[in-house]
Amino acid sequence: MRLRNKPWAKDMINDNLDLISIQPENMQGKWQARFEKKQPLYLELGSGKGAFITELARRNPQNNYIAMEVQEGAIALILKKQVENKLPNLQLLLANGSNLSDLFAEGEVTGLYLNFSDPWPKTRHVKRRLTYKSFLEQYKFVLQDDGKIEFKTDNQGLFEYSLVSMNNFGMKFEELSLDLHNDEKLNEDNIQTEYEEKFSKKGFRINYLKASF
Ligand SMILES: C[S@@+](CC[C@H](N)C(=O)[O-])C[C@H]1O[C@@H](n2cnc3c(N)ncnc32)[C@H](O)[C@@H]1O
Repeated sequence: MRLRNKPWAKDMINDNLDLISIQPENMQGKWQARFEKKQPLYLELGSGKGAFITELARRNPQNNYIAMEVQEGAIALILKKQVENKLPNLQLLLANGSNLSDLFAEGEVTGLYLNFSDPWPKTRHVKRRLTYKSFLEQYKFVLQDDGKIEFKTDNQGLFEYSLVSMNNFGMKFEELSLDLHNDEKLNEDNIQTEYEEKFSKKGFRINYLKASF
């Protein structure tokens, strides 16, 4: 998903540096200081326009959340919502998730969400998939020992690839569905992302897994 640059984005970001961090240095181990309360910290990597993480944070004031995006045009749309909502347990981060260990300390994160990550279907782009082993290594480092990854996608190829990649990495699968929206138990508290709404309306089934290291 490539979003058009927003002419207003830079000013909005610079006016709200209490809500958003930009490729920060020396933040490892210090993220809790950005929030009102010290409580479990969850990260969404590739939040897009932010519908999921904003609603998740609203429903769960007992946790802290970070919405991470590499695209300024996307994070600016999340920021626009957050400037209105001012959820005390949501922070935004404009940065690339390929080097999470430069941004977070070992075990600093309680849980990680990957929603409708770019599929990168060509084999020569395999290393860009967010479930490629170099990403899994980073997740393992930043997640606490019993930390979970939750992953949703409509993309069959990416889901199959991710199952194999995670299995080869020795990860344990705790939940799995090839049709999340028709799974009464798993779908009960499901919060849809923008992509999820769009593609499930077109008839695509949503794959879901929860795994730990
Ligand atoms: C296909 S979109 C899905 C957006 C949203 N999660 C949803 O489900 O509607 C993938 C998003 O991940 C972001 N992304 C991809 N690679 C990233 C990376 N290495 N670090 C941070 N964000 C990334 C993209 O900019 C894009 O907004």
